[in-house]
Amino acid sequence: MRHLLTLRETSAIDIRYLLDTAETLKEILARPVKKVPTLRGRAMITLFYENSTRTRTSFELAAKFMSAEAINIAVAQSSVAKGESLKDSLLTLQALKADCIVMRHSVSGTPEFAAELLKHTSIVNAGDGRHEHPTQGLLDMLTMREIKGQMEGLEVAIVGDIAHSRVARSNIWGLTKMGAKVRLVGPRTLLPPDADRLPVKVYDNLAKGLDGADVVNVLRLQTERMERGLLPSLREYSRLFGISPQSLKYAAPDALVLHPGPMNRGVEISADVADGKFGIHAAIEEQVTNGIAVRMATLYALMGVSSDSEG
Ligand code: NCD
Repeated sequence: MRHLLTLRETSAIDIRYLLDTAETLKEILARPVKKVPTLRGRAMITLFYENSTRTRTSFELAAKFMSAEAINIAVAQSSVAKGESLKDSLLTLQALKADCIVMRHSVSGTPEFAAELLKHTSIVNAGDGRHEHPTQGLLDMLTMREIKGQMEGLEVAIVGDIAHSRVARSNIWGLTKMGAKVRLVGPRTLLPPDADRLPVKVYDNLAKGLDGADVVNVLRLQTERMERGLLPSLREYSRLFGISPQSLKYAAPDALVLHPGPMNRGVEISADVADGKFGIHAAIEEQVTNGIAVRMATLYALMGVSSDSEG
């Protein structure tokens, strides 16, 4: 693999390879000394034009646990604030000998642009606009596979603000390639306009959309990407589409609840569900840990050096 840009363009074989590698590497996270020499002498740079807590931190930890150099560009304090273009920033990071650039940008398609521009540096898409967020899709799949045993035949309901969600798109492509069935559930104004061209079933009613679902993946309302007027009120959204112990009764009895974070407790997910009260199986913290494992696997796939090229 040279880049990881989308799950739409990643084959089922590569997805399985990344998940299997993540499962193996996850064992390192359980050790008292979380460090292996695998990526010694390699350099990863993160370039985030949008906010992030868990994605950026987990890429940094993933690189460090595998002994790669990890550098974060704080865009606000970088030359970008002096007007440097994305193209020049990328060329500079390549000239600084980055083996891999992990980038997040509000404009869909910027990682493809970077991958076409750079000849010596791998690109990982850590979220581009409302397009894709492939490592989030992978960590969601790893969590489902770990807890449910397999993805084949799983009924996965993605609930909430799907129109603005890159997480939803990466889930849709990744999960369907691995044999799961995906439903999108949300108010009509937050369903994607191209839903009929996606391999999914669409519901604008929570009870119907959750009926018998094995996994409920809850999405944040992405108000920063929303035009005004898409939602009458948060309270109404919460009443009709919020995931609470009551609404979860529509799903399968042992339904697994996921959320990519950051959560808006009391809006798209109730505190009781988020905290796994009343026997509810929420795996939101496992997702965060699996995020490190998946990012270790990704960096290994892109920057791993074969033994004969080591010094
Ligand atoms: C997601 C993102 O940035 O797309 N967050 C994340 O990476 N865990 C989802 C979100 O912002 O709601």
